[in-house]
Amino acid sequence: MTSTVRVSVETPYDVRIGPGLLQAVEALAPRYSRVAVLTDENVAPLYLERLGETFGKRVIVVAAGEASKSFVTLESVLDQLCGFGLDRDSALIALGGGVIGDLCGLSAALFMRGVRFIQCPTTLLAQVDASVGGKTAVNLTSGKNLAGVFHQPDAVFADTSTLASQSEDEFRSGLGEVLKTALLDGEEHLAQLEADAALLVARDSRTLTRVVERCVQFKAKIVSADPLEGGSRKCLNLGHTYAHAIEHIAGFGVVPHGIAVAAGVGMALDQAGSCGVLEDAQLAGRVRKLARSLGLPTSLEDIEARTGLEFSEPDMLRAMSSDKKNAAGEVRYVLPVRAGEVRIDVVIE
Ligand SMILES: NC(=O)c1ccc[n+]([C@@H]2O[C@H](COP(=O)([O-])OP(=O)(O)OC[C@H]3O[C@@H](n4cnc5c(N)ncnc54)[C@H](O)[C@@H]3O)[C@@H](O)[C@H]2O)c1
Repeated sequence: MTSTVRVSVETPYDVRIGPGLLQAVEALAPRYSRVAVLTDENVAPLYLERLGETFGKRVIVVAAGEASKSFVTLESVLDQLCGFGLDRDSALIALGGGVIGDLCGLSAALFMRGVRFIQCPTTLLAQVDASVGGKTAVNLTSGKNLAGVFHQPDAVFADTSTLASQSEDEFRSGLGEVLKTALLDGEEHLAQLEADAALLVARDSRTLTRVVERCVQFKAKIVSADPLEGGSRKCLNLGHTYAHAIEHIAGFGVVPHGIAVAAGVGMALDQAGSCGVLEDAQLAGRVRKLARSLGLPTSLEDIEARTGLEFSEPDMLRAMSSDKKNAAGEVRYVLPVRAGEVRIDVVIE
């Protein structure tokens, strides 16, 4: 059971979703002069072979984790691509989670002023979010994702069978983005996620495919309408102002991104309630209940309990003010109004 979602940007591309799709990537090889694969040390032994022999010749394996989204690793990747003799008609394949997707996308955008790339996301977070939409980045000491470009992939192959080997924590991180997406998409999606929660947590194959498909459909719609995040796409940043601050204070990689996002969504609901933006009084309680059933935090206190770290208000405010979503030095929030509706660019005194 596989499905396809089209992303209608300047050069449209398809996101294929379902179990066993890594084997289908090899069919694209004739489109390119040479292909190199970028993956990490955890994913390579598990899934590299599934891409087939053609792609086994030029492989770059980087250390797993957020630290690889750095200029140092980026430079090393670009140097290795030169060593492989890639030219402007070559392509890269990102085989891994969001870290690999972001690093590979930026490498593809920079190498010889731009080559094509294919996303093969192997984490739930990357399948429902990071692999779709063309955002690429590395981190700076000053903050997360502060250096990057938009560079859309040629295709995305979300092989849901790879999610079986994800650690519990990393899988849950993907559930954080699933929760955010359902809240943004509206009542029907939220109710479906409530119904799916138990099977989703158990990683039931059909449920995974359906949930990934639904999230990708929503993201494709948003990205197609606003590919460069000039306006409406900013809704996808729900919870992210808080999440990036949490990740920054804890140290990159300590709190998985989607887990920070889930806490950020809870904080955004609280903020929306206290400043009068939230119009559905039941929503915060409902989302908290759903988050609990998915094993997700919904507050800074939850994150403190989980990490044993302290996130003081001044530290959070300082970290939030270096967020790239800000404008003219003001912190910009995305706050929920009701399921399916948010207010963007909210400035709070
Ligand atoms: N570009 C975007 O639009 C976008 C959106 C959301 C998040 N992101 C970025 O994505 C990154 C987080 O992505 P992530 O959560 O996938 O983290 P990740 O890429 O670090 O992967 C998490 C861990 O799981 C391992 N792993 C990956 N696939 C596996 C599998 N199938 N089985 C076992 N282990 C596996 C990895 O080696 C790593 O250790 C962050 O850097 C975030 O900024 C980007």
